[in-house]
Amino acid sequence: MIYLIGCLIILMFGVVVLFGAPYLPTMRTQQDEALDLLGLKPGQILLELGSGDGRLMRRAASMGIRCIGYELNPILVIVSRLVCWRYRKLVDIRLANFWTVELPKVDGVYVFLLDRYMNKLDKKIAQDLAPTKLVSFAFKVPNRRIDNQVGGLYLYKYKANKS
Ligand SMILES: C[S@@+](CC[C@H](N)C(=O)[O-])C[C@H]1O[C@@H](n2cnc3c(N)ncnc32)[C@H](O)[C@@H]1O
Repeated sequence: MIYLIGCLIILMFGVVVLFGAPYLPTMRTQQDEALDLLGLKPGQILLELGSGDGRLMRRAASMGIRCIGYELNPILVIVSRLVCWRYRKLVDIRLANFWTVELPKVDGVYVFLLDRYMNKLDKKIAQDLAPTKLVSFAFKVPNRRIDNQVGGLYLYKYKANKS
């Protein structure tokens, strides 16, 4: 039984690698820097693609920011709902593959993914979410101008589509 549970847990953390970055949390200092860069006000909406254990959303919600998180790993969805329980009226965590859903219009987006997904992410944000702001931790968006940078955090401002 324990062996089966162990295998299931490994599977849930491992299978994510086929669709995006594996779980690795953003540390508190970088969370604060990311939220500073995004500059969202209370009542505005932050979207976290691959929301992990929910720590960044809890921090954002403590500032009155509304949050929507997409997370593929069911264990992390449960953990993050518990982590954000105090702010449950502000935080909405969805079990889904963010590449395959229609994303809601938001004021800012936060990601900590992998280099190989940044091009695909850029297209999705430009097509589906612009105008908005994106902060990416550790990985730059290729061929897009960085609007601001703090350490390994990159801010991009997407303008509205002309069509
Ligand atoms: C590097 S971790 C970052 C976690 C969190 N954003 C943070 O910064 O603390 C990437 C997260 O994205 C999730 N993830 C990867 N690909 C995904 C996808 N296609 N849809 C939803 N979640 C995904 C992983 O399960 C993991 O929790």
